[in-house]
Amino acid sequence: MRKLAVVGAGGLVGRRVVRNLAKSDIEDLELTLTGQGKSIGTEVAFRDAVLTVEKTEVAELRKMDAVILCTPTNASVSLVNELRGGPVILDTSSAFRMDPSVPLVVPEVNPQSAFGHSGLIAGPNCSTIQLVMVLKPLLDRYGLQRVHVSTYQAVSGVGYLAIEQLSDESRAVLESRPPEGGYEPQFPHRMGFNLIPQIDSFLPDGYTKEEMKMVNETKKILGTPDLRISTTCVRVPVYIGHSEACLVETERPADLDSVREVLAASPGILVKDDPLNSVYPMPVDAAHTDEVYVGRIRKDLSSRTGILMWIVADNLYRGAATNAVNVFRLLAKGM
Ligand SMILES: NC(=O)c1ccc[n+]([C@@H]2O[C@H](COP(=O)([O-])OP(=O)(O)OC[C@H]3O[C@@H](n4cnc5c(N)ncnc54)[C@H](OP(=O)(O)O)[C@@H]3O)[C@@H](O)[C@H]2O)c1
Repeated sequence: MRKLAVVGAGGLVGRRVVRNLAKSDIEDLELTLTGQGKSIGTEVAFRDAVLTVEKTEVAELRKMDAVILCTPTNASVSLVNELRGGPVILDTSSAFRMDPSVPLVVPEVNPQSAFGHSGLIAGPNCSTIQLVMVLKPLLDRYGLQRVHVSTYQAVSGVGYLAIEQLSDESRAVLESRPPEGGYEPQFPHRMGFNLIPQIDSFLPDGYTKEEMKMVNETKKILGTPDLRISTTCVRVPVYIGHSEACLVETERPADLDSVREVLAASPGILVKDDPLNSVYPMPVDAAHTDEVYVGRIRKDLSSRTGILMWIVADNLYRGAATNAVNVFRLLAKGM
């Protein structure tokens, strides 16, 4: 029997971790669900049982074989400090991603890194996961010279309050009245019927922290510290599903049919690319699924080996929960 706790089990990511564990092939699982405040006492279906979300107690978590943290960064920092030396910790927050001693793992891309852990494994940013899953097979086949990505990120990337804010502001615009409010604002500007070219705070060089997370995490996961990559991250009024317009310049020329074949053969990727019939990836189709969808694959007109593509995935499943459960599946084989 493997003892696993999901901390933050009532949050957007935590609930999806439980759902994916339930449908996974991992057997002999004794699951504990914990939270901090309003989720405590709520009931969650898990396979043929109903589990209750309990208060997070470090002493109880220390009895586990593994703990998946689906908690905000500050909570992850204090829980990791208190749990070190106990269960294996899989953290979905940004707290430890760039710590050189902590593996940053996407099982479809760098599974071997998971086995080099010393008690803690980090899951990447949601926008990074869908990007590296597409870049890895292209890196292996053609080599990578340069990458530029513009993101169109859903509000659920911020948590459940952001969904409430978008709904409230959108209703207000349609009904020509001020928003009702009553929640802590999650964005620096109105989100309803708007785009915001700022995710997280700005750094002195004009990039945001979110943009630099994508740059640095991508290099770490792919093992390509010298990769030329830059990003522009934009929040859009979509509930679920991050989209990315991506320019990839390869080292060796790549023809479009072989790019489609390479991507279609890669685990977790679905190529959806029939533009003449209006078939391409969209957030409404990607929501509530585990795959990364790629379409609009075409030659870049401004560079010698550039390929343009459009990448979409559910930020809550593929961008967090699915990845965490897949890392746990890797490790569970040895538990
Ligand atoms: N949303 C995404 O697209 C995404 C993608 C990748 C990674 N992540 C990361 O995943 C983590 C969770 O994100 P989320 O969107 O699921 O947030 P969320 O919906 O706000 O949920 C956070 C959960 O954490 C619990 N919590 C807060 N402080 C805690 C503490 N000190 N001890 C125990 N539980 C605590 C809360 O419990 P109560 O409900 O009981 O208050 C809540 O259930 C964050 O670090 C986020 O950066 C999110």
